[in-house]
Amino acid sequence: MLHAIQIKELKKQYHGAIEPALDGLSFDVSEGSIVGLLGPNGAGKTTSINIMCGLVAPDTGTASIYGVSCIDHPASVREQIGVVPQQIALFPNMTAMENFMYIGRLYGLEDRFIKERASDLLERLGLMKHADKRVNRYSGGMKRRANIIASLLHDPLILILDEPTAGVDVQSRAMILDFLREYNNKGKTILYTSHLLEEAEKICDEVVIIDSGKLITSGSPKTLIENTIDCRHLEDVFLHYTGHSVRD
Ligand SMILES: Nc1ncnc2c1ncn2[C@@H]1O[C@H](COP(=O)(O)OP(=O)(O)OP(=O)(O)O)[C@@H](O)[C@H]1O
Ligand SMILES: [Mg+2]
Repeated sequence: MLHAIQIKELKKQYHGAIEPALDGLSFDVSEGSIVGLLGPNGAGKTTSINIMCGLVAPDTGTASIYGVSCIDHPASVREQIGVVPQQIALFPNMTAMENFMYIGRLYGLEDRFIKERASDLLERLGLMKHADKRVNRYSGGMKRRANIIASLLHDPLILILDEPTAGVDVQSRAMILDFLREYNNKGKTILYTSHLLEEAEKICDEVVIIDSGKLITSGSPKTLIENTIDCRHLEDVFLHYTGHSVRD
């Protein structure tokens, strides 16, 4: 199967840090799959995503999207990927539609196209009637859904989401997960991070478990559960490999 994303031997140590954030991390994401990048706090998930979208440079190693280096060609990689950051990346004093127009123009899209695309996505994610409300009036779940729309205006082949369901209610989460499944059914590849292992078990074709910047294990949730002793759920597998000690 074609690799949509390939991460090879990534190493990254932030300035002044005692431990590396990434310590030789390698994994692949097959085209058309939904993959969960899982790990405790500080495992290196966001750092990996920031390298994929060209925001952070690794010390060594490579990251590529359809064979194109994220490090050497960040602009062409950004055309292929939509990235939903862990923090809400919208202007709070602008309406959702104003945000989308602004972001869409940064991608060089025409106003008519942006409006059409944003309207479709607003409708699908239940925000149409709030399109002209300022984002600072939105609830947490609405902001998360709007954050997803902002990353999809240029219709990317690959969607990378950093904790898209963190802090949202059950209804918003269900809507986001349905939407991700639907997007994946159109042949798009999805890489996402979450601390909600029950959710990852349900939605992911494959999960990649990392800890201290290293790959711990990967595979389909079903195979991992079957192959790990005394495990009935993905959470059992996760605890089996990453232990019970709290990360500071
Ligand atoms: N800008 C930075 N400067 C210094 N250290 C950083 C920086 N960003 C992250 N780190 C450190 O790098 C390590 C990996 O952090 P990262 O944010 O990638 O983890 P994560 O898996 O996304 O965690 P979380 O689940 O809490 O979001 C952590 O030890 C973190 O403290
Ligand atoms: Mg993170």
